[in-house]
Amino acid sequence: MAASYRKARVKNMAFCRWILIGVFGVVFLVLLLRTNTFIDLISRYSLETDETLGSNHNYTLSSEKNLKLPKQNEFSISLEKRNQMPPRNLDLYPTLAKNHIIIVLYVHNRPQYLRLAVDSLSRVVGISETLLIVSHDGYFEEMNKIVENIRFCQVKQIFAPFSPHLFVNSFPGVSRNDCKDKDDTAKKKCDGTPDQYGNHRSPKIVSLKHHWWWMMNTVWDGLKETSGHLGHILFIEEDHFIYPNAYRNLQLLIELKPKKCPHCYAANLAPSDVKSRGEGWESLIAERMGNVGYTFNRTVWQKIHRKAREFCTFDDYNWDITMWATVYPSFGGPVYTLRGPRTSAVHFGKCGLHQGQGERSACIDNGVLNFEVEDVDKVPNIKSGWGVYVYKDQAGYQAGFRGWGGWGDIRDRQLCLKFAKMYEASEAGIV
Ligand SMILES: *[C@@H]1O[C@H](CO)[C@@H](O)[C@H](O)[C@H]1NC(C)=O
Ligand SMILES: *[C@@H]1O[C@H](CO)[C@@H](O)[C@H](O)[C@H]1NC(C)=O
Repeated sequence: MAASYRKARVKNMAFCRWILIGVFGVVFLVLLLRTNTFIDLISRYSLETDETLGSNHNYTLSSEKNLKLPKQNEFSISLEKRNQMPPRNLDLYPTLAKNHIIIVLYVHNRPQYLRLAVDSLSRVVGISETLLIVSHDGYFEEMNKIVENIRFCQVKQIFAPFSPHLFVNSFPGVSRNDCKDKDDTAKKKCDGTPDQYGNHRSPKIVSLKHHWWWMMNTVWDGLKETSGHLGHILFIEEDHFIYPNAYRNLQLLIELKPKKCPHCYAANLAPSDVKSRGEGWESLIAERMGNVGYTFNRTVWQKIHRKAREFCTFDDYNWDITMWATVYPSFGGPVYTLRGPRTSAVHFGKCGLHQGQGERSACIDNGVLNFEVEDVDKVPNIKSGWGVYVYKDQAGYQAGFRGWGGWGDIRDRQLCLKFAKMYEASEAGIV
């Protein structure tokens, strides 16, 4: 009896071994396939050029075309359909001015802030000449109400359909088997690739970079309303206060840029140092790209779009630091932006959270801002006769910085690369 028991046990063990080998085989295969599609995506990407402009867009999303975007829930699909709706207020503003600068306001969920940003926009001289696109990360009724009530120009709302905020139990949201914090992937048998510091993805944190990249790709390459727009687009956020002279100043800067600063890629409403309100000099300023009120044209977008691999694989969850540390340095020269000597936009935060940053930082307390707009900021205050002062070798993030992490998960990197291909794949004749 003992012998037959041992025999059975040996048999059992052999069986177990086979099962184990089988399981390992499958896991290995899955891993291989995953890395392969990832590498495939990257190499396909780097072969790409995107000189194709405007003409033959087909705006159906290309999930059919092997992009394998995450499986959408009904709500995500309904928001995506909503993105196709025409702008509001076409009855009030049936046409856009020639050479208008489209404004893109990208928001998450701070209604108190958004109310102020929108209120400031309503006082911007010239705003009725253009289209305002509001890009939402997640769906929030209060945010939505504020945007629906805008009457001062054409308004188009778009919602990021793959926002982690729309997925409660699957990627890009949290899925059940996801690793957390500093989990050991092998030990816990959970899903995820840790970042360079050993931390796993946090959907709330990665959502910002995803939204920015989705929004950039969509407003340049995925909307009927912008497909013929070769000119500039201005980008602002829900915590930016825009001065009444912002639009007219920007028009001046854009007009002056080719002559005064041919090597400038962009024009900015605000200094790159967000605490500064400008020097007040009688001069234009060229400096490194800032992240408040930056404005560039389609040529520059195409240059950025070609660096999707750099953008999507850099281990930093901040879109702006990613741009400074990898994308701009890859252009092969300093990336300057042109601005006036007085700011036309400020970034504001909650009062009391800025200790040590000086009394001049803009802040909001109970829905009220701690500063007022001076008269000189209500009219254009840039002179075409001015020269340009160039800030050379400014401090800040540079090529070589390895990133703050938070962007290590292969799934996030893949999704990001897919956003870059989303509309291209659906263009007639291009796969
Ligand atoms: C756009 O793509 C869809 C689906 O691939 C196709 O049925 C339709 O004919 C295309 N339209 C144009 C204008 O190419
Ligand atoms: C867009 O801006 C860049 C940088 O300022 C400039 O070189 C380019 O000629 C502009 N493109 C168009 C179409 O105006």
